[in-house]
Amino acid sequence: MTAPKFTPRIFSGIQPSGGLTLGNYLGALKRFVEKQDEGIETIYCLVDLHAITVWQDPVRLREQTREAAAAFMAAGIDPARSILFNQSQVSAHAELGWIFNCVARMGWMSRMTQWKDKAGRNAEAASLGLFAYPSLMAADILVYHATMVPVGEDQKQHLELCRDIAIKFNHDYGVDFFPVIEPVIEGPATRVMSLRDGTRKMSKSDPSDQSRINLTDDADTIAQKIRKARTDPEPLPDSLEGLAGRPEARNLVNIYAALAGSTPEAVVAEFAGRGFGTFKPALADLAVSRLAPISREMKRLMADPAGIDRILGDGAARAEAIARPILERTLDIVGMIRSR
Ligand code: AMP
Ligand code: TRP
Repeated sequence: MTAPKFTPRIFSGIQPSGGLTLGNYLGALKRFVEKQDEGIETIYCLVDLHAITVWQDPVRLREQTREAAAAFMAAGIDPARSILFNQSQVSAHAELGWIFNCVARMGWMSRMTQWKDKAGRNAEAASLGLFAYPSLMAADILVYHATMVPVGEDQKQHLELCRDIAIKFNHDYGVDFFPVIEPVIEGPATRVMSLRDGTRKMSKSDPSDQSRINLTDDADTIAQKIRKARTDPEPLPDSLEGLAGRPEARNLVNIYAALAGSTPEAVVAEFAGRGFGTFKPALADLAVSRLAPISREMKRLMADPAGIDRILGDGAARAEAIARPILERTLDIVGMIRSR
């Protein structure tokens, strides 16, 4: 339970470590826009400090950060109503991240499945930042005293760790200072799967471009990727139970539901008994009608990189105004002399 003394505030972030995918859009971005439109205070961050836990080409990183900012705005984030900025422009994140490195335990971090997946058997060669990453993520959220965090399913464990860090900090220092956040993992597409393998997450780091739809893909590419998506030969069943053991089919149904603002139940009811020869073209049309306007608007925004940088700078200044006083109070609680 979130203590009532914390006013509702939403924070979330996306790494600018590659182009955004349909998974990012349905699992995160589209939900960010819905939250903004519900009138809750919303803070959205391009987490460039997280991106460099794996080496990034500096020129590409800057471009990808602008591209991600353009994607946010093209999808409906209004920088006048939400705060939109890149993480490294507000140093309070890294500063609180350090304090949380001293709160979080090695054991907690070693249990993170994303760490185990990404570092794999070659953990010796992974960066220390990659290991500590969930503690910086907790700082991103808690430096705003945010209470709700919309994310895709893959981030659930990191949000539980954020709760553990808040609880341990409050306990260790005898305060009720950091809120215990609520993960917001909702909708039919909290885990969009690869178009080539329904058991793997759609990801910007998958070597196969056919496995994902990028927000920058044009209409023909989107339609072609959906046509070629792996499926099985069975027609669609008349209920969701009939999709058990058919991960690729289930994934396409979920994607359809999320794009249409509907539910998987309704999609299955509509297409019951039809084969993929009917369903895929319908999905391709729907995807193009939803995504093409976003990619067109992204292109328009990207033509003015200085304009994007100005928006991020303005967002960072507004973010800083919230974060700095919370960081100052944290330093005071921890026992740091504040004399300048
Ligand atoms: P990342 O690209 O890892 O920074 O993820 C940014 C946000 O998108 C997080 O909230 C993720 O949970 C979400 N996300 C990433 N990939 C997917 C996916 N395949 N399905 C649903 N959500 C996703
Ligand atoms: N770890 C998240 C991801 O890879 C990105 C992220 C960083 C984030 N800081 C965050 C998400 C704070 C929500 C809140 O998807």
